Amino acid sequence: MKILSRVAIAAAIITLAVVGFAYSGFYDVSASSPHSGVVRWLLSTTSEASIERRARAVDVPELDDETLVLAGVNDFNSMCIGCHGAPGIEPEAMGQGLNPPAPDLAEEAAEMTPAELFWVTKHGISMTGMPAWGVTHDDSSIWPIVALMIKLPGLDEAGYQSLLASAQGHGHHADDSSGGQHSHGAIDEAPDNTAHEHGASEDHGETPRPETVPEAAEEHDRSTHEHSQ
Ligand code: HEC
Repeated sequence: MKILSRVAIAAAIITLAVVGFAYSGFYDVSASSPHSGVVRWLLSTTSEASIERRARAVDVPELDDETLVLAGVNDFNSMCIGCHGAPGIEPEAMGQGLNPPAPDLAEEAAEMTPAELFWVTKHGISMTGMPAWGVTHDDSSIWPIVALMIKLPGLDEAGYQSLLASAQGHGHHADDSSGGQHSHGAIDEAPDNTAHEHGASEDHGETPRPETVPEAAEEHDRSTHEHSQ
């Protein structure tokens, strides 16, 4: 009984200390200073274990398909490089200011299974800059990006650019990419449950996209893909 009450008192003190610390303002939440070693370990270990566990339920389709990779490189170039960069391409200012940083996927993707890459891309990682792309994209729009990420560790700058050059017309962001650079961060998509049609490159044709005017009036399915530049 004595032991039990001591445990209860200790638990109460710890709870008070944690709550007191939360309200105190002592913890530095700025993104400009790195997390302390303990916090970093706790966050990355929790995150890795969570991704690993949840990715087990993902059914991986056949991904070794040139068409998927070509669609993937255009979409990756439009949606991901602002934060992650790509071979020969630095992340934009937005990506450089993230904490935790967005890792170079040309390295990190080699450490992850296709199921894990898919799960993270679809669901994102909370309390970090990594968005849940599944909110605005269906699975068939995400798998091509996974197919590309699998190839990414084997690509240098020239390889990435030549893949991009041969990918014209592929992917749902087919007409967003021009020559490997892009100018938007791909995080401004309005959450929207409208189903997204993948691979509608024929529809997009040569029509130049207006820089700032929403394309709501266009007949093709761009409803989930408005990036104001
Ligand atoms: C707004 C910035 C941003 C954009 C855009 C973004 N990411 Fe991320 N991503 C992050 C950050 C930040 C992390 C690291 C999160 C962490 O450390 O837990 C991350 C992590 C990841 C990881 C996990 C890497 C690992 O080592 O665990 C994958 C995979 C990933 N992103 C894929 C993508 C893909 C694919 C896209 C495009 C469809 C994309 N990201 C777009 C910010 C972004």
